[in-house]
Amino acid sequence: MVTWSAPGKVFLFGEHAVVYGKPAIAMAIKPRVFVTVRKSRAPHPAKSPYIDSCFDEMGVKGSVYINSQLPSSSGLGSSAAVTVATLAAINDEFGINNSREQIAEMAFNIEKKVQKGRASPTDTTVSTYGGLVFIIGASRRRLPPESFQMVVGNTMVSHSTSKMVEMVADLKKKNPEICDPVLDAIGGITMSAMHHLVDPVQLGRLMNMNHSLLEVLGVGHPALSRLVLSARTAGAYGAKITGAGGGGCMVALCPKHLKSRIASSIEACEARAFVTNIDTEGVRKEKDV
Ligand code: PMV
Repeated sequence: MVTWSAPGKVFLFGEHAVVYGKPAIAMAIKPRVFVTVRKSRAPHPAKSPYIDSCFDEMGVKGSVYINSQLPSSSGLGSSAAVTVATLAAINDEFGINNSREQIAEMAFNIEKKVQKGRASPTDTTVSTYGGLVFIIGASRRRLPPESFQMVVGNTMVSHSTSKMVEMVADLKKKNPEICDPVLDAIGGITMSAMHHLVDPVQLGRLMNMNHSLLEVLGVGHPALSRLVLSARTAGAYGAKITGAGGGGCMVALCPKHLKSRIASSIEACEARAFVTNIDTEGVRKEKDV
């Protein structure tokens, strides 16, 4: 029996646009998912298409126990973290010897299959390697870690990533004259952010712009708007949706001394908030039992 863990993530820039080959920047964050895998001749059914696919891909059978610090269906990449940690645990328990690269690739293929073909490798890359990651098309680059002070606000409104991705695909099909320039502009914001990674004031402004464009794409939600506005009013450099939107979480970039005030202002909107920072470690072994 082995236990592996993988971190969640926030999108600083570029969700949705990344599905269409535009650049994105995402960061692994502290809450993790812990997955224990045990060889078993009569495994219990996993009740998750992600976990079932992990065993199918690896061609073995076993039992799984999941202990998650990450809320699911909230834009923090919990399904990718579960998939990556499950693959790594199976790999270890059954002595399969796949590399990290192979695990990242398999996890991406599983996400893509469950998300009906439309997915970027962002979540699975960040969960596998940790840290700050720049993604464009099939290429992924780890950036030097930055100690961003972040507050994550969870609207507690659950969302479906595949539904939101499909909605944007619909808009793109029906109104390419509106949707395409918006996706390009999001890509432009991400590229500009690459030049300002050590300038939180400018990064915050760019996050605010990115948020507005996500609303144009139709992935906003009144609860998300409330949290974003309250974080900005409480002094955040910037705040935006993180992940697929339509509910789920927002993220605020904060001056260090205002983190608690910003978290309280989010909680005052009947939401949950937590302060977090970069997790530079990706998938890792926790203990051998
Ligand atoms: O909500 P999440 O954490 O699954 O993020 C989805 C991000 C999208 O760009 C909308 C989709 C993707 O696969 O990148």
